[in-house]
Amino acid sequence: MFSVARSQHASAEEAYSDLLAQARALLEGERDFTANAANLASLIFHTLPDLNWAGFYWLKDGELVLGPFQGKPACVRIALGRGVCGTAARERRTLVVPDVDAFPGHIACDAASASEIVVPIVEDGTLRGVLDLDSPELARFDAEDAEGLELFVRTLVPRMNWKGL
Ligand code: SME
Repeated sequence: MFSVARSQHASAEEAYSDLLAQARALLEGERDFTANAANLASLIFHTLPDLNWAGFYWLKDGELVLGPFQGKPACVRIALGRGVCGTAARERRTLVVPDVDAFPGHIACDAASASEIVVPIVEDGTLRGVLDLDSPELARFDAEDAEGLELFVRTLVPRMNWKGL
């Protein structure tokens, strides 16, 4: 477990496919929504290098509400269209932000965050929330991270027990 540091892989694709294999194993045989989401946040945080925050926001009553995460305490409610998370959710597209200070309306939860990636979570056409990763390094995330994390979300969404949200 917890051995998918990118440096140990030939490519980002390989690192993400390893991460996904570990995630599938974690979810295997367990239906509890919070337990699974918490383990996924932990897995990402402890395996991908150079992160200071990784976790979920869920769409509840029309706004994003903080879910399981690793990192410093974060802002609890984010309106759709606000910040990086709210924008990615409203537009239902992945946002890669190389410099959070240059993103209009970025919500600073941890002053250490320099770059960010947010992937929308859509189940069967329904927006469920977002996966949010922050890094203390500028331009930490690129198109390969977007691809890897989108595959991660696409693969795990059907395996999550959404009734538990
Ligand atoms: N920076 C995010 C808020 C969430 S924290 O990074 C955990 C945003 O602008 O939406």
